[in-house]
Amino acid sequence: MAGLFISFEGVDGVGKSTQAERLRDYLRSRGLNVVLTREPGGTRIGAAIRQILLHGVDGDTDIAPRTEALLYAADRAQHAAHVIRPALDAGDVVISDRYIDSSLAYQAGGRELTPDDIRNLSEWATGGLWPRRTYVLDMDFADSAARLTGEADRLESSGRAFFSRTRQEFLALAQADPERFRVIDASRSIEEVWDDIRRDVDGLVPDASPRPAEMADAASARPGGAR
Ligand code: TYD
Repeated sequence: MAGLFISFEGVDGVGKSTQAERLRDYLRSRGLNVVLTREPGGTRIGAAIRQILLHGVDGDTDIAPRTEALLYAADRAQHAAHVIRPALDAGDVVISDRYIDSSLAYQAGGRELTPDDIRNLSEWATGGLWPRRTYVLDMDFADSAARLTGEADRLESSGRAFFSRTRQEFLALAQADPERFRVIDASRSIEEVWDDIRRDVDGLVPDASPRPAEMADAASARPGGAR
């Protein structure tokens, strides 16, 4: 598998989608083929699963914890098989707005499901496909809640304790695997957050061809610039 797999994680409202789009545009401008996708709902089958997960069916939103874990895993299995693996095999960059770590942070830790259960389920669902880099966008509940607009869905209405616990889960996951994770302070401006991500990703794709604008910058900087 020749491509590069990157995921964005964090609680709702931290700006993952904005940064994932920036990253897509940036890497495209550097001449790379980029697939931006998301979970749940990165495939047509997944979109149907997403609808059930976030809104229930005919007013029934009482999803048992094991059902919920299996639905997220089913969405991920379809996503890995039909979107992520084919793109990576073609040498593309895949950016996923949420992936396995969301299941570990949101579904594990209740009374019924252990982190091992969730990890095994997702590994089985994806054939053990993990991202090379995961950006956890991290901020306080008060800040992220203030950013959420529109009608709260089933998960977003679960409240502060749920958010705080989930946030801590993401931080614990990141701490356990510093090689794969980068924790980004998402309470700052979009530009500052993006700057951290761009600097890191430049280290992952060092041989990407420079943009025309950058070549022009470099050329004009050369005469009086440092050696
Ligand atoms: P979404 O509207 O995509 O949230 P966001 O825009 O914040 O990413 O809804 C996804 C919700 O699903 C989100 O609250 C997190 C939750 N989720 C899980 O609980 N487990 C998972 O494995 C995934 C992928 C998402």
